[in-house]
Amino acid sequence: MPVILAIESSCDETSVAICDNGKITANVIANQTIHENYGGVIPELASRVHQQNIVPAVQQALAIAKIQKKQLDGVAFTQGPGLLGSLLVGVSFAKSFALALDLPLISVNHMQAHILAHFIDEPMPKFPFLCLTVSGGHTQIVLVKDYFDMEIVGETLDDAAGEAFDKTAKILNLPYPGGPLIDKYAKQGNPKAYQFPEPQIKDLNYSFSGFKTAILYFIRDSQKVNPNFVEENLADICASVQHSIVNILLNKLKKAAKQYHCTQIAIAGGVSANSGLRDTLMSLQDSLGWEVFIPKFEYCTDNAAMIAIAGYHKFLQNDFVGQEVAPMARMNF
Ligand code: KG4
Ligand code: ZN
Repeated sequence: MPVILAIESSCDETSVAICDNGKITANVIANQTIHENYGGVIPELASRVHQQNIVPAVQQALAIAKIQKKQLDGVAFTQGPGLLGSLLVGVSFAKSFALALDLPLISVNHMQAHILAHFIDEPMPKFPFLCLTVSGGHTQIVLVKDYFDMEIVGETLDDAAGEAFDKTAKILNLPYPGGPLIDKYAKQGNPKAYQFPEPQIKDLNYSFSGFKTAILYFIRDSQKVNPNFVEENLADICASVQHSIVNILLNKLKKAAKQYHCTQIAIAGGVSANSGLRDTLMSLQDSLGWEVFIPKFEYCTDNAAMIAIAGYHKFLQNDFVGQEVAPMARMNF
């Protein structure tokens, strides 16, 4: 049965995982802390650090899984979407590795992989289910009909939910990436302390750019009255912002669940690590008659385990690509 080595390098995490017959036996993640100094990911720097990290990460993953190169059956990699320079490092490595070892290559879509992270461990959702995929670059409601048969039924028209968290954090002078910090401070705050308007967007789509501007003006106006407004009210501001983002996300998800008669509901992507989103979703499940699926923390943010499980299912379907494959900064399902 197949042993797959998987590479993820779409943004600022270099990650390598091994999937041994459907079980993840290694998931090495090398974080790039260098970007904290710049308030966001610097693409040029990200590619260089991937270049330094990728070979040690592969060696470490093989050692953890106690697998020798000759035992591998396939190489999966993130083809896109993501930062082109970052993707290039992972794609080039995967191609060379597969060529040297004469292994088949498996291309994986990063956003599909976030969703397929639900198939790493039990409990697993049953098809068809709805997945709210929320990351630093994407906010989508996806109708998942099968492993690789997915339809985006709603998405953001501008900023992603993760960007709304990160940009708010920047306004509050918190370091990058701010999402986890907002989550941390929100735990001590009152989520109803301040109200922010919910964007009125048609259908199942989202918009977060106006929301971000509303927060910017609110902070600016409050600081005119009290220059220490942010320092004195950080927990309440974070709790209120988080509460608003979670409400915006879940209101459209409820609408989608009704429209598609779905009760199997999942979340995926970096923002699915948010405790406000996780707790609210769990508290809703009984009243809405939903069965809710929330990934383990380590499978929410970028990781190669999700690429490995996606690669495993593609391997079972004999879905391989040739050496002409190239990274794609934008990539549809
Ligand atoms: O999926 P991901 O690791 O990378 C992308 O594919 O974009 O998502 C990263 C995003 C960032 O915007 C980060 O701030 C956000 O996920 N994030 C969180 C939390 N953990 C990560 N946002 C809110 N609360 C969290 N606990
Ligand atoms: Zn991601």
